[in-house]
Amino acid sequence: MNHDFRCTMSRRAFLAAVAGAAASASMRGAHASAVDERQIKVAPGEVRLNGAGGPSTAVWTYNGTVPGPALRLRQGQPVRVAVENGLDEDTTVHWHGIRLPNAMDGVPGLTQTPIRPGESFSYEFAPPDAGTFWYHPHADSLVQIGRGLAGPLIVEEAEPVAFDGDLLWLLQDWRLTKDGQIAGGFGSMMDASMSGRVGNLVTVNGQAQPDQSVRAGERVRLRLANASLARMMALRFEGHRPVVLAIDGQPCDPHEPEDGRLVLAPAMRIDIALDMQGDPGSRHDVIDDFYDGLAYRLTTLVYDNASPIRPHPLSAPLALPRNPLPELDFANAVHQEIVLQGGMMGGGKLKGAGGMMGMTMPGMNGGAAWAINGMSMTGDGHAGMAPQFMLERGATCLLTMRNETAWWHPMHVHGFSLSVLSRNGEPVPHRQWQDTVLLAPKDTVDCAFVADNPGDWMLHCHVADHQMAGLMTVFRVK
Ligand code: C2O
Ligand code: CU
Ligand code: CU
Repeated sequence: MNHDFRCTMSRRAFLAAVAGAAASASMRGAHASAVDERQIKVAPGEVRLNGAGGPSTAVWTYNGTVPGPALRLRQGQPVRVAVENGLDEDTTVHWHGIRLPNAMDGVPGLTQTPIRPGESFSYEFAPPDAGTFWYHPHADSLVQIGRGLAGPLIVEEAEPVAFDGDLLWLLQDWRLTKDGQIAGGFGSMMDASMSGRVGNLVTVNGQAQPDQSVRAGERVRLRLANASLARMMALRFEGHRPVVLAIDGQPCDPHEPEDGRLVLAPAMRIDIALDMQGDPGSRHDVIDDFYDGLAYRLTTLVYDNASPIRPHPLSAPLALPRNPLPELDFANAVHQEIVLQGGMMGGGKLKGAGGMMGMTMPGMNGGAAWAINGMSMTGDGHAGMAPQFMLERGATCLLTMRNETAWWHPMHVHGFSLSVLSRNGEPVPHRQWQDTVLLAPKDTVDCAFVADNPGDWMLHCHVADHQMAGLMTVFRVK
């Protein structure tokens, strides 16, 4: 099994590729129309998350591995991914963060009939944006993602961007029993109404605490993706100063994160430039200290003994090329508001499909624990769900999200990237666009997007338990 997502191109080959890019630019027009064919089989498998000596864990896999294969696609080039379902329950694949046609979005009931056991479905789209994305099921999401189904999706820039290396860490959080098997109890009332199913083992590309070998003096692009069900992360690179280049696949103004901590909520991605300024032979831990008192070592940067590849560090990193996002029209924008309600200690009553929740325990018996604007949409998606709001195609929507609960929620919008304008009245710097916006307890965030993509789109919390227990809605672009 290959867990090393490092680009295998040598530096010389890489520079040759950069030099050749201009020459081949005219050929690319011809290439762009060829359909890139990929195959993914969803099936049970076995992996060793703690290395060769550790226990074997029964998981669900894409093409036999956890995480699934890294799909590297070209910006603008059509791709067809044939997905075969080898599970004995329905599944779908959702291409998280990709702005694609609604019918390819992978939401069961809403955008497609689910893929039945033994059946296949071909997803076809041409990714308009370069960047770091991921794919995961959107059927029985809590269980299927919790059993390992997740994979990285990289869309390469039309013109290559020069780094000494291109690394990817797909982070997964597992709740394991003592003998290394995935614990049952998915969707418990505790998880559903509180922080969600936070696990007890975090893996990087399917391995717990693997070493990351690096060379002194190199500048790598490191793509971080949090594919956890519920675990929030805040990564610190000891002895290093990461520079944020992109969030959720969308380039921003390069900046160092506040306190040097990279906050990654479930489903979020951050691309950083990392200058390897440590000494040859040195080791530097990467720590996740999001939860007070529960800091742990995620991985370690291990320098080889080779002398630095360049005598002086490179100067400030160049910004990544911006993606072709539509122009916001604030003068004619329509305003919509989403209020997040419920959870333990949240107060208030929830009105769900099953009537008033009243004062019963939230999340009981797979019921609703959360609501958006007073409505609880539970599960993974339904046919015939009334949209929360409608937008005219092409309209700019100013979306305010208000968190009335006592919990964190990474709110995710399908089919669009949101320009994040302000948080609790303070402007958000660095021109950030995100598909997953983290709301701290009681936060209010203002975003904007152009409703240029017709269809019924999901908007939900990406803590899988929260989504399943009602923190989800749909809006329609006509
Ligand atoms: Cu990655 Cu509806 O989600
Ligand atoms: Cu999504
Ligand atoms: Cu949530």
